[in-house]
Amino acid sequence: MAARAAVLTGLGGYLPPRTVTNDELPRQLDTSDEWIRRRTGIRQRHWAGPGVSTGDLAVEAGHRALRSAALGTGDTVGMVIVATTTPDHPCPATAPDVAARLGLGQAAAFDLAAGCSGFVYALATAAAALTAGHAEHALVIGAETFSTVLDPADRTTAVIFGDGAGAVVLRAGTRDEPGAVLAVDLGADGTGKDFASIPGGGARERSLRPEPNPDDRYLRMRGKEIFTHAVHRMEHSSAAALATVGWHVDEVDHLVGHQANLRILHALARQLGMDRQRVVSHIQQAGNTSAASIPLALADAAARHRFQAHDRLLLTAFGAGLTWGSAALTWPAPTPGRAHP
Ligand code: ACO
Repeated sequence: MAARAAVLTGLGGYLPPRTVTNDELPRQLDTSDEWIRRRTGIRQRHWAGPGVSTGDLAVEAGHRALRSAALGTGDTVGMVIVATTTPDHPCPATAPDVAARLGLGQAAAFDLAAGCSGFVYALATAAAALTAGHAEHALVIGAETFSTVLDPADRTTAVIFGDGAGAVVLRAGTRDEPGAVLAVDLGADGTGKDFASIPGGGARERSLRPEPNPDDRYLRMRGKEIFTHAVHRMEHSSAAALATVGWHVDEVDHLVGHQANLRILHALARQLGMDRQRVVSHIQQAGNTSAASIPLALADAAARHRFQAHDRLLLTAFGAGLTWGSAALTWPAPTPGRAHP
């Protein structure tokens, strides 16, 4: 009998209704639709707006993923992971509240912070737990409200990031089933911690001064350096995941990279020796939604019937930390009554 593995069985994405086109960005940013499209591919992003939190978006995406998984009454979700860099509170984690709001009883629930690589890290964590027999189903959500940490005067970040959430349901199955997560590769390099960071709001700042510096709550990013590292790290991580699963790059049907910049995705494909037709992109509509970007790209592509059962997918991400990660999986067969997982 084939070895145990995590199998993709549900998928959902949620973008808050308010879209902000490039032309609608605040004038003070001194940018243009032409610059943003040419340098990033982004045409619009979604911003959640007052009173809407990461947890709210996570609940919407989680609900959609659970509905698409069509779990039976006897099926129990034993683990909920919310990958996020913009949690609702420093304490407690966002995931237990999300699990409770989704009616998932007393499932293990925790947040995972790995920047834009968070979803791949969470997928790997949940897949390991299912493979080890710690749960039969897991809900993995990537959710962010980066609009809450954007400096409205910083054009290098404010034009890029958007809010949203994407989620998958995994179940314990076997490696020979379509939908199986077959390989993962994860890595980090903390010497690059200042490349993308939110300086304030944590123990470091609180240990230094009682009154926080208001500007320290904003994301600071060294975009050019991140660009170079992102292509390099995702290329090598992708190669490592492909080597583990034993696929040649020509056998990959879809490259689903972190949606940070369309130029990064194209540079990555070029480095890997893949044609652009296999690059899945959603950044044009949603911007960089950090940990939400890969499951949102998957949900968007699935809704457009881009994937067929047994297709080979390579997921790869890079983000603050620095962190990176990749996963190789196949696309599941449709369950009767459902168009896609
Ligand atoms: N509008 C107009 N001009 C701009 C803008 C803007 N929004 N932003 C920068 N510029 C200007 C710069 O000032 C610079 O002008 P200069 O030549 O007169 O000095 C020029 O455009 C070029 O700037 P670069 O920084 O070289 O622009 P680049 O092509 O590198 O694009 C960008 C910047 C989009 C940020 C790119 O570097 C990028 O996508 N980086 C990766 C970001 C990423 O992956 N983030 C994910 C990790 S974050 C996380 O995990 C939370």
